[in-house]
Amino acid sequence: MKIVLFGATGMIGSRIAAEAAARGHSVTAVSRSGARPKADGDVTAVSGDAGDREQVATLVKGADVVASALVPARDGSDPRASFVALYHDFLSGVRAGGGPRTVIVGGAGSLRVAPGLRLVDTPDFPPAFKPEALAHADVLDSLRANAADLPMWTYISPAPQTGPGVRTGAFRVGVGDDLLPHAGSISAEDFAAAFVDEVESGAHPRQRLSVAQTA
Ligand SMILES: NC(=O)c1ccc[n+]([C@@H]2O[C@H](COP(=O)([O-])OP(=O)(O)OC[C@H]3O[C@@H](n4cnc5c(N)ncnc54)[C@H](OP(=O)(O)O)[C@@H]3O)[C@@H](O)[C@H]2O)c1
Repeated sequence: MKIVLFGATGMIGSRIAAEAAARGHSVTAVSRSGARPKADGDVTAVSGDAGDREQVATLVKGADVVASALVPARDGSDPRASFVALYHDFLSGVRAGGGPRTVIVGGAGSLRVAPGLRLVDTPDFPPAFKPEALAHADVLDSLRANAADLPMWTYISPAPQTGPGVRTGAFRVGVGDDLLPHAGSISAEDFAAAFVDEVESGAHPRQRLSVAQTA
């Protein structure tokens, strides 16, 4: 498959690039820096801005799947409106470029821990991560509200604690908004494996998935 991945140099994006290339896919690895993620295989690094509609349209032409591991602003400003605007511009660029299916790395904070209660709204949710979690929740709301105008998307939330680790190949995937039971953590490598499974299968159009360690 030809995969165009935005955010390809990041903590999660670089693992998705490595996983996809290891499975034999052709990966165009996009970031503003244009650096090459550490990955063996067919990976071409390209400089591009996901917020630039024309650049995105050009970059995604001919892709089978677009993938995104973009990040909300982490400069201390409120990232909510700017992240929704970034995704709006990005996805309108994807659509202008032919509208390939788009798989998105999301956040865990909007997952439900009880009826009507999101993880981000629980008292123990770390305040430092709240703006980023709310920005992700806004993007997911916007995807659902504007689905008819968007390319086909799938939104995948990692477990609450996600970081560099090892690829075990053992993980759980939940469909929908409920946090998986005991969904403490996932390595970025296992998350990338689950993410590339969905890239390959396209099994969950316009749905939200979540990935967590095995119980
Ligand atoms: N538990 C959770 O909910 C959880 C845990 C971890 C991560 N996440 C989410 O996963 C996503 C990825 O996180 P991360 O830690 O991997 O982020 P990261 O390491 O900061 O990587 C972000 C990537 O996006 C690129 N990027 C940023 N703005 C861009 C733009 N306008 N156009 C093109 N590329 C752009 C960056 O490269 P350049 O700066 O060179 O453009 C970089 O490749 C985030 O949305 C984060 O919130 C969620």
